[in-house]
Amino acid sequence: MSLNLPQRPRRNRKSAALRGFARETHLGPEHFVLPLFLHDKPENEAIGSMPGCFRLSQAGVLREVEAALKEGVTGFDLFPAIAETQKTSDGREAYNPAGLVPQVIRSLKREFPEALVITDVALDPYNSDGHDGLVKDGKILNDETVEILIMQALCHAEAGADVISPSDMMDGRIGAIRGGLDAQGFTDVSILSYCVKYASSFYNPFRDALASSPKFGDKKTYQMDPANVREALRELALDEDEGADIVMVKPALPFLDVLRVVRDSTALPVAAYQVSGEYAMLKAAALNGWLDERRTVMESLLGIRRAGADMIFTYYARQAARWLKEG
Ligand code: PBG
Repeated sequence: MSLNLPQRPRRNRKSAALRGFARETHLGPEHFVLPLFLHDKPENEAIGSMPGCFRLSQAGVLREVEAALKEGVTGFDLFPAIAETQKTSDGREAYNPAGLVPQVIRSLKREFPEALVITDVALDPYNSDGHDGLVKDGKILNDETVEILIMQALCHAEAGADVISPSDMMDGRIGAIRGGLDAQGFTDVSILSYCVKYASSFYNPFRDALASSPKFGDKKTYQMDPANVREALRELALDEDEGADIVMVKPALPFLDVLRVVRDSTALPVAAYQVSGEYAMLKAAALNGWLDERRTVMESLLGIRRAGADMIFTYYARQAARWLKEG
């Protein structure tokens, strides 16, 4: 039998050529930012809960960035694993000009000036309490933390960072950091705000990688409640007013609806972070033979783009760039 259907959407899917013309979303290596874990040791070290990811030595970072650039990945975000002995309750290692991050920024910008170097601004890797802010009597202090974040941002800017990326969720930090940078003449240094960052359970492998888990409690008094979306608009309005250049939604896959709302509510570029737990889930299923890694990773990244991300932070950046090249 034949149905009387003037409209048959399948006609636009009947060949690869037609599907090509009808495709609405495109993915390319220019959309990816590769997060890099650093440590101050001579060898790269595997990260147990993130197979395929490493804490990189200083030489290892240079090799990784060189290889990624050849594959078309142009953005890099730096996360340091700091020795327990260098962690203090005031997090002062965060703005040590001779620290690991400023050293790596300098060597990267010297060797690969074309690479976009993004740095994470938050105290958790440096703070003996494992929180993104200073702790007093079990409370995370806001304004006192922001003062230190300004010093950390300046330290990264002086070393040559292209983009400063505050991931701490303290109130008012974007404006304060913008003011601090401008006062020192760093008007060209961009701010990518972790604007809409949820108190998610998908960050655990990252905290393993940096040994940066909070020593007590959780991050719910500063990171957002996963139940909320209107609150994202409030954070967005504030960060836009305070001078953010790019805004991020994080994590990505469990928050695609939030990404769409943010995309539709701002003229700024929007970033999304496919976080460590998203990577670990895909990797674990792939290693068990339960999912086809290439297809599920590319479908996830495409979904994140379709939902509105201009920029995707992903541990799969290099692999995805290679897959795209293979076609
Ligand atoms: C720290 C920071 C975190 C991530 C990026 N910056 C962890 C946290 O907030 O606890 C998570 C990234 C990931 O899970 O891949 N400020």
